[in-house]
Amino acid sequence: MLAKSFRAPLAAIALGALCQHPVTAQDGSIETLVANDKSFALNGKGMSYRFHVDEDTGDLYNDHFGGLATEDGLVEPLARPDGWAGFPSRVLREYPDLGRGDMRIPAVQIRQAGDGKAYTVSDLKYQSHELVEGKPALSGLPSTFGEAGEVSTLIVHLYDNYSAIAVDMSYSIFAEHDAVVRSVNITNKGENDIVLDKAASLSVDLPFADYEMIYLRGDWAREAQRVRRSVEYGNQGFGSLAGYSSHFHNPFLALVSPDTTESRGDAWGFSLVYTGSFSVDVEKSSQGPLRATLGLNPYEFAWPLKPGETFTTPECVAIYSDAGVGGMSRKFHNLFRKNLIRSKFATEPRPALLNSWEGLYFAYNQSTVLDLARATAELGVKLFVLDDGWFGNEFPRNNDSLGLGDWQVNKAKFPDGLGPLVDEITQLQSGNSSDKLQFGLWFEPEMVNPNSTLYGKHPDWVLHAADYPRTLRRNQLVLNLALPEVQEHVINSVANILDTAKVTYVKWDNNRGMHETTTSYASHQYMLGLYRVLDTLTTRFPDVLFEGCASGGGRFDPGIMHYFPQSWTSDNTDGFNRVGIQFGTSLAYPPSAMGAHVSVVPNHQAGRVTPLAYRAHVAMMGGSFGFELNPADLTADERAELPALISLADQVNPIVIQGDMYRLSLPEHSNWPAAMWITPEGDKAAVFYFQTRANVNHQLPYLKLQGLDPSARYALDGNGTFSGATLMNVGVQYMFPVEDYGSKVMLLERQ
Ligand SMILES: *[C@@H]1O[C@H](CO)[C@@H](O)[C@H](O)[C@H]1NC(C)=O
Ligand SMILES: *[C@@H]1O[C@H](CO)[C@@H](O)[C@H](O)[C@H]1NC(C)=O
Ligand SMILES: *[C@@H]1O[C@H](CO)[C@@H](O)[C@H](O)[C@H]1NC(C)=O
Ligand SMILES: *[C@@H]1O[C@H](CO)[C@@H](O)[C@H](O)[C@H]1NC(C)=O
Ligand SMILES: *[C@@H]1O[C@H](CO)[C@@H](O)[C@H](O)[C@H]1NC(C)=O
Ligand SMILES: *[C@@H]1O[C@H](CO)[C@@H](O)[C@H](O)[C@H]1NC(C)=O
Ligand SMILES: *[C@@H]1O[C@H](CO)[C@@H](O)[C@H](O)[C@H]1NC(C)=O
Repeated sequence: MLAKSFRAPLAAIALGALCQHPVTAQDGSIETLVANDKSFALNGKGMSYRFHVDEDTGDLYNDHFGGLATEDGLVEPLARPDGWAGFPSRVLREYPDLGRGDMRIPAVQIRQAGDGKAYTVSDLKYQSHELVEGKPALSGLPSTFGEAGEVSTLIVHLYDNYSAIAVDMSYSIFAEHDAVVRSVNITNKGENDIVLDKAASLSVDLPFADYEMIYLRGDWAREAQRVRRSVEYGNQGFGSLAGYSSHFHNPFLALVSPDTTESRGDAWGFSLVYTGSFSVDVEKSSQGPLRATLGLNPYEFAWPLKPGETFTTPECVAIYSDAGVGGMSRKFHNLFRKNLIRSKFATEPRPALLNSWEGLYFAYNQSTVLDLARATAELGVKLFVLDDGWFGNEFPRNNDSLGLGDWQVNKAKFPDGLGPLVDEITQLQSGNSSDKLQFGLWFEPEMVNPNSTLYGKHPDWVLHAADYPRTLRRNQLVLNLALPEVQEHVINSVANILDTAKVTYVKWDNNRGMHETTTSYASHQYMLGLYRVLDTLTTRFPDVLFEGCASGGGRFDPGIMHYFPQSWTSDNTDGFNRVGIQFGTSLAYPPSAMGAHVSVVPNHQAGRVTPLAYRAHVAMMGGSFGFELNPADLTADERAELPALISLADQVNPIVIQGDMYRLSLPEHSNWPAAMWITPEGDKAAVFYFQTRANVNHQLPYLKLQGLDPSARYALDGNGTFSGATLMNVGVQYMFPVEDYGSKVMLLERQ
């Protein structure tokens, strides 16, 4: 038995008297990880995950995943089955294989080859298990991490004696976050090749009950739209075949009870730590139980495994909260900030930035860039980012049909290179502060235009399938990062620039999906190559703040987040659309990881006109606040408002980066969406409150706050002090003026 890293207070736990698979220690406290003969329990602060080895079959059966439990419940043995659905179709299984009478969706499907065999039956039986302090790294894949004491790991070894296939299942428990992280190794120990047609990272069976599922759908410029619907009999799933996690769906699933709200009720959250094509299946089976599997998309898999080889799946996080959807989100946020994002910037306030894209697009030269940088510095912004257009000589990057792949500074625009310009820019004083302006640069290293020197030299470096057309999207092709020589090229292209100019921020863009791949499994090989590149560059340049981007939020996933502490949330910078996109993204991801910018009106994507303060207040709810405009395009009144807004952004940024987020009312339910953040110490809070449509001749609601200490007193923006109880139970009534797109930020300080 493992030394425990967490003990729940005795008083909180009712002791079980006699139980089949006990998990309480002698003194009644709950241990984090317990293996009792062939029964296992993983316990968090408010969550238990329990399963055991069935004596008769050697299969793993789930006993419980939900709130804390100290022993197995009173569960009647299954009656002798009638009909076609035998025991295997009725039990709650941990990693269901295919072909032995479980007629639900399998977690794993293995095709055996050699000697004319084409079986897809597997017979994975328990062999042994081991307990490990801490959490072993997942070789070549992004993963959560933690010290011994923070996380402990159970590894269960399964074996198919007929085909000599070993499956090692890893379960790591982060007690503080009520999170279990699972991944699977599949090893071919036989003498014939096999093919993995499906290998889910996680499969979970929940007992018969009514459930609803929550997930995200979208497309370019309208990412992360929340969907909530009931789980019906049959299979209902979603995923991505874009080669990337994509705008279409996010590798995130929540299951909730029908009566679960933002702040109350059962919520199970699942998050796949992966950036490629994925699949989520949710099946309510004939007998009533629910099965969910998350993992690589089987349509782009068929992974050949030779004798002696091991395949490692990405990992999947499973979280339980009884504090509703909001409670689940906060656990994801905390886990991801502390135990997934490895950048030193993970919990650091981020510099307010100005990005040149919507201000200049491709039309710039050394002097216009310097002018924009000067205007940026005058505003008191801390970081100037030069977007697309600075590279390519044989094919100068003056529009999106040429130059991509040629990461040399364009000599026509920058005759002296970037070095002297960046030196000058980084000498500029930011506003009235003593800080100097920092410089950031845009890259899209995984892509190439056919109109480029690189493509002329290496047409074979792009993803392609023999003579099938190399379909262009945005005039570009995808470099095949599975190839080691392409990985080296990408690493060197980016490193060369970072070595020669004082660049402290990189925006890493990726603007198309994959088509015409070389093999069924090329997209996963690509991901392994990409992860090697990201690992190498972020290790070599630990002081550079990397921001991920994929035509906006096309790769807003935990895989990218492991390397890049922030990602651009959407190309749509319209304030109103952004409220929905950012609230949706916050279901799984910490606001600290969201890039959010203010742009000019009418908005370039939505055409909408909203007040500057509204746009800025919405953008302040992202960890990386900034501007996507040329200040010269603002009105004089707007320019006059800017210093106060930037100073407010600087003030709330540490709270948004480190704080617990409470979504107080949702944009899809209310004309007054609101969210608040409270620092981990509980000493400060920031409340963001919006009015979408003007409220004419009608009362305004009371906004009830959450998460405060009921007995503490808080100063509310210089308008008196109130107890937490009053703020949470009575609320605050703010009188929005009669206007569309009203906004209000309230700061609270505990007295
Ligand atoms: C596996 O098969 C071998 C012979 O093929 C047999 O001796 C052994 O008992 C089997 N082990 C299990 C766990 O079934
Ligand atoms: C999975 O396989 C990898 C590579 O062979 C190995 O490093 C790792 O320890 C294995 N993990 C488990 C849980 O067996
Ligand atoms: C840079 O562009 C601006 C605006 O198009 C133009 O006025 C200026 O002459 C250009 N400067 C150089 C050095 O090309
Ligand atoms: C892009 O620029 C090239 C070179 O200046 C020009 O030939 C081409 O027509 C431009 N394409 C578009 C779409 O503007
Ligand atoms: C700098 O200080 C001046 C004088 O107090 C003020 O007018 C200006 O708005 C300040 N600039 C910024 C960016 O805060
Ligand atoms: C670049 O490629 C496009 C096709 O994507 C072609 O129409 C265009 O003429 C090319 N431009 C140059 C400058 O080669
Ligand atoms: C607090 O007082 C200020 C100044 O009187 C006012 O502008 C603000 O709207 C008030 N805040 C709230 C939440 O009512």
